[in-house]
Amino acid sequence: MAKVIVTGGAGFIGSHLCDKLLSSGHEVLCIDNFLTGSEENIAHLQDDTRFQFINHDVITPLPDQLQAEYLFHLASPASPNHHSKISYHQLPMETMLVNTAGTLNMLQFASKHNAKFLFTSTSEVYGDPLEHPQKESYRGNVSTTGPRSVYDEAKRFGETLVAYFWRNKGLDARIVRIFNTYGPRMSTADMRMISIFINQALSYQPITIFGDGKQTRSLCEVSDTVEGIMRMMFHDNTKREIVNIGSSNEHTVLEYAEMVKRLTGSTSEIQFAEQLPQDDPLKRRADISKAKALLDWSPVVSLEEGLQKMIGYYKSQK
Ligand SMILES: NC(=O)c1ccc[n+]([C@@H]2O[C@H](COP(=O)([O-])OP(=O)(O)OC[C@H]3O[C@@H](n4cnc5c(N)ncnc54)[C@H](O)[C@@H]3O)[C@@H](O)[C@H]2O)c1
Repeated sequence: MAKVIVTGGAGFIGSHLCDKLLSSGHEVLCIDNFLTGSEENIAHLQDDTRFQFINHDVITPLPDQLQAEYLFHLASPASPNHHSKISYHQLPMETMLVNTAGTLNMLQFASKHNAKFLFTSTSEVYGDPLEHPQKESYRGNVSTTGPRSVYDEAKRFGETLVAYFWRNKGLDARIVRIFNTYGPRMSTADMRMISIFINQALSYQPITIFGDGKQTRSLCEVSDTVEGIMRMMFHDNTKREIVNIGSSNEHTVLEYAEMVKRLTGSTSEIQFAEQLPQDDPLKRRADISKAKALLDWSPVVSLEEGLQKMIGYYKSQK
């Protein structure tokens, strides 16, 4: 049993990670300021004596008396939809700071306390990729000033900080680049593609697709993502490694819309609307051969099973 800190532990992925760590026998200290997460996501853990929560903004350093052997740094807004109140577009300064100053604070804490460190980066560091699928060695096609730069470039600098700490300070650290993840506890206000489609289908509104629907997405169910994150932290051979965690199973946006419509039993029409938002990548798919080789990891939850779970959660939120 180890003492583990999870920043962003009241968020979508973080709360599932807390569940998994507790069920694996660890003690969890969850740190969150509820910027985009919620108390509800961790309410079921409050009676577990191995679970502790601290309401803290990681842009300021952690209290020095805290202890940890492992630190997972997940805190950051993650939704790219301009219209979502929890998106990084609506929270630009918070997003830039949590991934840069926040990451520096967490690295300094890990270094001082000799804790193993994991940073959740993103496939967005690849930008609108010119290489398909994306391997970890691909350096990306990212705008420093475009609408998504507050997230993409902050994550890229976060990675730079992590690499500085492993190179210059000898910190035992690693980076996961998470690709689109979906599942229960993804906020109904998130407004990423699958969240919008399920909300629309459940309220019998038209399911809207931007562009012609031929753009592709690969989605990974959250339990698979969390398993990848766990292996990345706890396997022996992951120090100083950068690994993609995501699904390589590509579907068109139209296929997702049709599947959501079928699984919800909705009568919603599928409608095509406007053009694609600026900087919306047309294609992105993880090359997960490194995760397979290093972690013996690949997603196991089928799209249909994953969508059923998420639809069940969205129904429970109505
Ligand atoms: N969900 C995805 O598809 C996806 C894809 C790529 C990368 N990621 C990364 O995974 C991590 C988790 O994403 P998520 O989808 O669970 O997002 P989320 O918004 O549900 O969770 C993030 C959590 O971080 C907390 N937080 C934000 N700023 C904070 C701060 N300054 N101090 C303390 N807590 C703070 C939020 O309140 C929230 O609980 C993020 O780093 C995100 O960039 C997610």
